[in-house]
Amino acid sequence: MAKQQNYEKQDLFEQRLAHHHDELRWLYMELYDNGSMFAELCDQMRQFWKERSKALKQRDAQRLEEADWYKSRDLLGMMLYIDRFAGNMKGVEKKLDYLTSAGVNCLHLMPFLDTVEGRSDGGYAVADFRTVRKDLGSMEDLEQLTTACHKQGINVCMDFVMNHTSCDHDWAKRALAGDGEYMSRYFFFDNEALVQEYEKTVPQVFPTTAPGNFTKMDNGYWVMTTFYPYQWDLNYRNPRVFNEMMYNFLYLANRGIDIMRIDAVPYIWKELGTSCRNLPRVHTIVRLMRMIGEIVCPSVILLGEVVMEPVKVTPYFGTAEKPECHLLYNVTSMCTIWNTLATHDARLLKGQLDSVGALPKEFVFLNYLRCHDDIGWGLDYDTLASWGMQQTSHKQYLNDFFLGRTPGSASRGQLYNDDIASGDARLCGTTASLCGLETAKTQEEYNQAVGLDLMLHSMMMFQSGIPMLYNGDEVGQLNDYSYEQNPHYAEDSRYLHRGQMRWDLVEQAKDTTTPAGRIFSGLNTLTQLRRKHPAFDADAPYTTLDTPHQSLLAIQRHKEGQTLVGVFNFDLQPRSLELPQGAYRCLQTGKEYPCQLELAPYQGLWLEQV
Ligand code: GLC
Repeated sequence: MAKQQNYEKQDLFEQRLAHHHDELRWLYMELYDNGSMFAELCDQMRQFWKERSKALKQRDAQRLEEADWYKSRDLLGMMLYIDRFAGNMKGVEKKLDYLTSAGVNCLHLMPFLDTVEGRSDGGYAVADFRTVRKDLGSMEDLEQLTTACHKQGINVCMDFVMNHTSCDHDWAKRALAGDGEYMSRYFFFDNEALVQEYEKTVPQVFPTTAPGNFTKMDNGYWVMTTFYPYQWDLNYRNPRVFNEMMYNFLYLANRGIDIMRIDAVPYIWKELGTSCRNLPRVHTIVRLMRMIGEIVCPSVILLGEVVMEPVKVTPYFGTAEKPECHLLYNVTSMCTIWNTLATHDARLLKGQLDSVGALPKEFVFLNYLRCHDDIGWGLDYDTLASWGMQQTSHKQYLNDFFLGRTPGSASRGQLYNDDIASGDARLCGTTASLCGLETAKTQEEYNQAVGLDLMLHSMMMFQSGIPMLYNGDEVGQLNDYSYEQNPHYAEDSRYLHRGQMRWDLVEQAKDTTTPAGRIFSGLNTLTQLRRKHPAFDADAPYTTLDTPHQSLLAIQRHKEGQTLVGVFNFDLQPRSLELPQGAYRCLQTGKEYPCQLELAPYQGLWLEQV
């Protein structure tokens, strides 16, 4: 009891504020040179801390004691759309036992804040940061859901879309009506020449659906819209924008969120004459946000969405003294895994794993195969070029493979944002469809697709960090083509892999001989094995091993005297390899293997050296 009261002592907040105060103030003043806005920020932080529930303050205290909780090998994430999974927030609450049965203890609830259908970008165009989308529930439902999740040992993640608001946001409406105070919260120009100046150096995110980075409005003004025309970029040069967005962050944190996924973070600072990506000020803002979180709600951690090449990703971890994000997506490994499948060549993946393995062990990645977005082919093209492969033709090769146009490919995907002019395109589809489950007709084809699906998941889960499943993948859900008939979605092929949850597959999965059952139980086994073996800890050293054939990948991990080797065959041919001297036992089956072994097509094994 005495300890419980300690969580609530005002001193705790003041101590944490004092600890960060100098750096917080220094960075804030460097950005804004505005003492009264800084004072307001501190007051509001104190207020949000006061309003934070007892239970969450207790969670803060616990997490401060086990500050490395997010590095644990116990974690398994799943991302899902509330409506497609279970109708609404209350529905999700009723399905928590299902999530637990799948081993899930980190739940990423896809965007659920107020948004207007038809200009929503899957919820990434937020009209109100303090209101839940009506059909999904209310803020009370959210609190009830996060409380229920916490009771069941599940951490909750949500998106904090801070780069832009929707054009339906109150600020945007006032700006459009000509209110200067609100116009200054966005990038409004009446001077087209200035717009053209920006366009000279700022690349385009969606070249086909949203040409240019600005949208012209009926009142003659131009507004910056990096993503869709209805997503208006916020101007973080305005301290009012920064302060208010931090208040929104704290408000949402106080609803029981554990992991804030900061959406599109590289884009949040803009400067004329630059690419407006990854600018130094972005890091100042993320660092400020990290400190604000540590002061008010220290159990909340930051997951940065940085879909960039590796050299641009890792700076978002910050440094040991000045950390920024706790977690980042391992986006390059993700797309390189798919590249390996299409090329039967694991060399690029080996190089990628070596570079990730050489990073400080404090850096924790979120590993995944599929998510709600497309697969953008952000590969190491310099290395590919040194092997004679050119970017455009290579992307075309990959897309042809996953569209099932290449002889021998059983894959079924669709293109996303294909730009005929540049030949650039990205890819959509569920894991199971990309692995050939959709086209399988014979038992042999089913076996191959299920085997491949499990092999890719086992490779993904053999990496260090938190594995994150995309909802539906746990039962081998296929592409859903119904979006093509929906006028709101038809233009956005990402809806191909955003179908309704197929609860009939969950039923089928009870029979472990069905494809759904084999995938569900296979993934469950991998999760249990990860939890059991210390060598899966995020800080366990790992290295890749040389293999005699380029379609083979071998990774070694060790900790506490245990050595594990993951071997994966990305080929339709059986392949042999020789592991370091010794005998091995398969973690999945208990079968013994000599160091000379042969892998069947698309086979993956987790082996322990005995
Ligand atoms: C992120 C989201 C994506 C969205 C974009 C704009 O990249 O993952 O779905 O379109 O941000 O908010």
